[in-house]
Amino acid sequence: MVETVKVLVTGGAGFIGSAVVRLLVAELGVSVVNVDKMTYAASPAATAGVATDPRYAFFKADICDGAAMRAILAQHRPDAVMHLAAESHVDRSIDSPADFINTNIVGTYTLLQATLEYWRSLDAEAQGRFRFHHVSTDEVYGSLGADGLFTEETPYQPNSPYSASKAGSDHLVRAWHHTFGLPTVTSNCSNNYGPFQFPEKLIPLMIVNGLKGRPLPVYGKGENVRDWLYVEDHARALWTVLTTGKVGETYNVGGHNEMRNLDVVHLICDLLDELRPSGSGSRRSQITFVQDRPGHDARYAIDASKIARDLGWRPKETFATGLRRTVAWYLENEGWWQEILDQKYAGVRLGLAAGKKA
Ligand code: NAD
Ligand code: TYD
Repeated sequence: MVETVKVLVTGGAGFIGSAVVRLLVAELGVSVVNVDKMTYAASPAATAGVATDPRYAFFKADICDGAAMRAILAQHRPDAVMHLAAESHVDRSIDSPADFINTNIVGTYTLLQATLEYWRSLDAEAQGRFRFHHVSTDEVYGSLGADGLFTEETPYQPNSPYSASKAGSDHLVRAWHHTFGLPTVTSNCSNNYGPFQFPEKLIPLMIVNGLKGRPLPVYGKGENVRDWLYVEDHARALWTVLTTGKVGETYNVGGHNEMRNLDVVHLICDLLDELRPSGSGSRRSQITFVQDRPGHDARYAIDASKIARDLGWRPKETFATGLRRTVAWYLENEGWWQEILDQKYAGVRLGLAAGKKA
């Protein structure tokens, strides 16, 4: 295990990045420098609990700004970089791919170059301890049929502008390790859910629309399958990979929770009915089947045996426990998502602007 006491986290004001920041600062006592551009997806509230902690520093900066990245690295001298900053929503990548190319590919390249320059300035002992952890997605592997699982050896076949931009960034990280010797680790994770997820993604959108009595838009027939992982389990997996993963390796992270979208929405409806009865029947009656997403991947499923076997990580939450916690969190934090609905995203359908007919 490498000793890591100060970490530069990119995208630490986002959904997963903020869970990492909370874990590192509040639970593990690790110092964090959070570098985030504060796009629409960022939430100051998600890191408010650690904002005044002396181990926490925040910089509003764009990972595409090489001078800013070099200055922050030189000033703070981290033991590791955990790179989570990205444009993350598939539907938005269909409407505006440019942001995904810029942040996910050019931004990752810019950060890698700045990190390489910083790494070369370290003494041999610090160079040996240093890690660049690239946080990626299982979507780079493409779409599965009814059987099979993604392993670390599955060939890359990204289908959306989002997954193609993440695949590009994974390849850059690989090349910066093989060509320049930067000590990198990469993890590819399945769909996350939990507190502070922006309500454009399936689970929070269904919770919010369910509470508001609005239609619950299920794409196509709702038969697409995703593997769901509770965000705090992912944050612990990332720390495990960073501190005990083998340099140059990639690790798949998954929740052993494969489910059809329609079944996920049914579970959310039933939890809402139980925890906040509507008075006008089951939320299931709000389900509306809508036009499918262009290029919609049929099924993602992760073989997470490598990270279990080699690093000893396993998720703590089942989907039943994690989803209950998540629904309860959205019920208790209405102010957080209502402000987003009022100011940033009213819940309109995304991703149909330019795609082929599904
Ligand atoms: P998110 O959209 O909630 O947050 C992304 C954060 O990155 C935001 O705070 C945003 O302001 C910041 N950011 C965006 N562009 C930036 C830039 N140019 N410079 C600096 N900061 C910038 O995303 P998330 O769901 O928390 O995902 C985090 C990472 O995990 C991403 O790399 C994503 O690809 C990966 N991932 C996500 C999932 C998932 O289910 N959400 C699953 C697997 C992997
Ligand atoms: P999403 O949360 O956008 O994650 P990803 O596309 O990265 O897997 O979507 C999860 C699944 O839910 C995906 O198959 C698309 C589907 N979906 C809907 O059916 N309705 C919706 O309103 C949204 C946002 C997604």
